[in-house]
Amino acid sequence: MDITKVACVGAGLIGRDWATVFSSRGLEVTIQDMNESILEDAVKGISSTLTFLEEKDLLEAGGAGAAMERIRTTTQIARAVEGADYVQESVPDNYDLKKKVFEEMDKMAPRHAILASSASGLVMTEIQKATAVPERCVLVHPMVPVYLIPLVEIVGGQDTSPETVKTTDEFMKGLGKSPVVLNREVPGYIINRLQAALLREAIDLVDKGVVSAEGLDRAFCTGIGIRDPMIGPLLRVHLAGNGVDRFFQNYAKSYQYRWDNMETWTSIPPSAVEAVVDGVNDMEIVRKKPMAEIKTWRDEMLVKLLKIVHGK
Ligand SMILES: NC(=O)c1ccc[n+]([C@@H]2O[C@H](COP(=O)([O-])OP(=O)(O)OC[C@H]3O[C@@H](n4cnc5c(N)ncnc54)[C@H](O)[C@@H]3O)[C@@H](O)[C@H]2O)c1
Repeated sequence: MDITKVACVGAGLIGRDWATVFSSRGLEVTIQDMNESILEDAVKGISSTLTFLEEKDLLEAGGAGAAMERIRTTTQIARAVEGADYVQESVPDNYDLKKKVFEEMDKMAPRHAILASSASGLVMTEIQKATAVPERCVLVHPMVPVYLIPLVEIVGGQDTSPETVKTTDEFMKGLGKSPVVLNREVPGYIINRLQAALLREAIDLVDKGVVSAEGLDRAFCTGIGIRDPMIGPLLRVHLAGNGVDRFFQNYAKSYQYRWDNMETWTSIPPSAVEAVVDGVNDMEIVRKKPMAEIKTWRDEMLVKLLKIVHGK
């Protein structure tokens, strides 16, 4: 299927990032949100990101202005999805809301349009129940900042057709993304399950006073973070153990001691929230720089890293 016109339903953090990706790749984009002031803010944000990408040579000269010409806004879902080949929904992660929005998108979008959700914890099997054509509904989970991070996770629900998954995979590759298609859906998909496991341990180490929030992040960035852009946790054990089978022979017991000693809570204890909020607010970078400046710094560093690791 030829995808030339897309709609972004919900223009918060993720919706505007998606609009940046789509418009910078030559697609006509209509963004939709609840009111004009959110849309105005979104357009400003998209414009400034596109300018950043052009300054970093990730867009050709004049590319930012040309991309902005391809963006339209509306407060009506019906107007947004009119004539769209692909719709990316990015409203808050809540089944009632997503189902209401999918029901409307399904009624109003052309029959051939793919309806994708950016949801980060919910499953498509539940969301697509609200639609008359569930075969065209698929989960496409991005990572922030969507205009720089290559990964998108793609997973269908029980009633999603294999063609929808295949077309979405090809579409994402055409946008320069590196999609991973899951064999079956699980809440949180791959990345957010990995992040959830890591985050619980990070929170607990700070809560127990083992390390400060600043120290924990520094350990992560100078250890795992710097090593892992090239290798994942599974290739890592192959290298660390001088052979993956040897790793399990030699380290299974050592990992058991660690896992035996680690927290398994599923609801964050109030003391941990307090410790992490205090710890993060006390980080030097958070004390000295406003949020927008930290994000720009992160993006600048990511651009350099992507050039080294992915050659772009
Ligand atoms: N923030 C992240 O790091 C991240 C990463 C990947 C995926 N996601 C997922 O993306 C989705 C959006 O997250 P976000 O961070 O952009 O949230 P956000 O709160 O920044 O934006 C959500 C937007 O949806 C709009 N909205 C609410 N109800 C609406 C409706 N009925 N119709 C149209 N718009 C409506 C809100 O006005 C808001 O602008 C969620 O499902 C989230 O889980 C978030």
